[in-house]
Amino acid sequence: MAWIEKYGHGGDLLTAQTQFGLGSTPLLDFSANINPLGPPPKVMQTIKEQLETIVHYPDPAQRKLKEKLARRLELQTEQIIIGNGAAECMALIILALEPKTVGVVYPCFSEYEKLSNAFGAKIKACYGRAEQQFKPKLQDLFALFNEVDLVFIGHPNNPTGVIYSLAELEEIAAQAESTNTYLVIDEAFIDFIPKNKQVTLLPNLEQYKNIIFVRSMTKFYAIPGLRLGFAVAQPEIIAKLQNKQVTWSVNQLALTAGEICLDEIQYEEETIALIEEQREYLKQAIQERFGWFVFSGQANFLLIRLPQSMNVAKLQWEMGKRGVMIRSCAMYPGLTDQDFRIAVRTKQENDQLLSALQKVVDEGGANLCR
Ligand SMILES: Cc1ncc(COP(=O)(O)O)c(C=O)c1O
Repeated sequence: MAWIEKYGHGGDLLTAQTQFGLGSTPLLDFSANINPLGPPPKVMQTIKEQLETIVHYPDPAQRKLKEKLARRLELQTEQIIIGNGAAECMALIILALEPKTVGVVYPCFSEYEKLSNAFGAKIKACYGRAEQQFKPKLQDLFALFNEVDLVFIGHPNNPTGVIYSLAELEEIAAQAESTNTYLVIDEAFIDFIPKNKQVTLLPNLEQYKNIIFVRSMTKFYAIPGLRLGFAVAQPEIIAKLQNKQVTWSVNQLALTAGEICLDEIQYEEETIALIEEQREYLKQAIQERFGWFVFSGQANFLLIRLPQSMNVAKLQWEMGKRGVMIRSCAMYPGLTDQDFRIAVRTKQENDQLLSALQKVVDEGGANLCR
């Protein structure tokens, strides 16, 4: 059976092509949650035009992008660090703040645990349960703050799409402040949520001395191969992170792309509208056509639970052979081998996914069972 998450994540095309025996045949990738519109055309065009800039070092202080982000988010540049993806920012947080114990809410993005372990921190966890759509009980989450030095929450959380209300976030933040625990709020997917439903404490940063916000530009602007993300916190925390960052870790083409992305207001609106419409379309189609359970939640992906008689590894294998990658969630603590995640893509691609699923179910029927 294929195991295409051997490096812990979706989107590993090389492993999938090898395991599914597809050579270099293009795959339709629903296993990584990337904007299906692709990067803004101006990003592609400018990168091509500026290829010759690779003969120079990137700006070691990332000044232009930092200034532009500061203007857009109404922050000071001292409150921002740019990273080689949100993942680098998370690594810098652990390296710089040196927590001995890190709290996580399972099921969650595996790098919280992987990076903590890599830098010598121990993990303590609480769980969100399927019956509560994976939102943890707040008292369980609060209890973590008494036991650890730093807590990660995903907002929205990957792979469950869990989000909190503003009042809940304020309570969580108050807990971080009163226990003097760092709180990392990973907002890598927040841009995909319609603006009127986006809930974040970021504009209230001044009030919080222990909170670090992490954002990704790779997913929303579809540049995961280029790598770009940033973290926002009080200047004292940002300075500590900066001290641990390898000079030039963000390349110049990524910095240039980031500057262009921040002007792409129409692209942003089109993306949000597409995801909102297609998320509902996919969710309903999966529930109605297949009768599978789709968890509620937000962002550009859906978490789905197969009936107990079915196994996701078999479904993933059958889909993979047909050139469609889905993300098995069996490896996430708190999830099972009935669970998988799919990205929300364009209508045409979503229909391709649905018809591949239909074929697998019609042809494979019994094969999908345990
Ligand atoms: C919740 C979450 N945060 C952060 C990241 C990393 O983002 P980046 O590509 O910007 O490093 C991912 C990537 O899958 C993710 O799922």
